[in-house]
Amino acid sequence: LHVGLIFGGNSSEHDVSKRSAHNIYDAMDKSKYDVSLFLVTKGGYFLGHDASSRVFDGEPEDEVAKQELSKLDKRNPLAPILNLGEVSDIDVFFPIIHGNLGEDGTIQGLLRLLQKPYVGSGVLGSAMSFDKDITKKILKIAGVPTTRYKLLTPLTAERYTYERLSKELGSILFVKPANQGSSVGIHKVESQEAYSEAIRDAFRYDSKVLVEEAIEGPEELEISILGNHHPIASKVGAIKVPASDAFYTYDNKFVDASKVEFDVPVSIPVALAQQLTKMGLDSYRALGLKGMARIDFLVSQDGKPYVSEVNTLPGFTNISLYPQLFAASGISYSELIDRLIQLANE
Ligand code: DAL
Ligand code: MG
Repeated sequence: LHVGLIFGGNSSEHDVSKRSAHNIYDAMDKSKYDVSLFLVTKGGYFLGHDASSRVFDGEPEDEVAKQELSKLDKRNPLAPILNLGEVSDIDVFFPIIHGNLGEDGTIQGLLRLLQKPYVGSGVLGSAMSFDKDITKKILKIAGVPTTRYKLLTPLTAERYTYERLSKELGSILFVKPANQGSSVGIHKVESQEAYSEAIRDAFRYDSKVLVEEAIEGPEELEISILGNHHPIASKVGAIKVPASDAFYTYDNKFVDASKVEFDVPVSIPVALAQQLTKMGLDSYRALGLKGMARIDFLVSQDGKPYVSEVNTLPGFTNISLYPQLFAASGISYSELIDRLIQLANE
């Protein structure tokens, strides 16, 4: 089977995606798969297999990209994606671009136009899950608890001061761009000054910003889901962020992960594990997801769980829980990849 692995991307998660792609590539049984690599540059151009392989093997991306892009006719409106057509016999694509223009339905739309099967959710499920405001609205309809929030747009933001929102949502607030991954642009604030700064920063990433209530001293738990019509859930994992850090940030995820501890699987009361499994599967179905997703939860000190977000192209980095949770549930890394590729064709 010929698989096209698409990675990189022009989102703030470019480097995270490269790490995911290396692990996925390494876990693919090469006696079963021919793999063509397509690196999407930070500027959003698809590089062909040879150039992508050179970067994969350690050549500096900026230099390879510069050489390759000079060969393209930039007047051609299809120039950014032209190299994707370089290999004609790809059976299935595996897009592992996290974040904007990857996890948000756009790559999925492109692959659909190319009439090729691909791993993961479709256009709508990806788009809905990537937008934290839409996700919450759908989950509310499905009866899955999520934290309370206020949606701000550039037009309405001025109406909401820290004072006003903290009366409604509590003194600790999370400010988040609606469409963003890996905690980029997320801030925890407790004052008007920090709030104003956080709002300014969050609007740099998106024109929709959520201001959410904080769950005090939460447990951060995650569950992995795999499947199409009959999805299965993994065991539950926990992430322990040191008290000195505000929350599970981009830096303690991907810059220096040494301070964060993981429990895979975590031992929690059976009733809570069952509740999380149900919430995970309910979310998956409500959002119409396919292939895979990692559902992240916050659990309050009195044991009440909330879905905090849904990731349709979850990280496959060394610290990422999606594959680890399935490994702990009896599905090895390479079997997981086999199943994901199989699911793309169903
Ligand atoms: N957005 C990152 C890759 C994750 O959720 O794992
Ligand atoms: Mg996410």
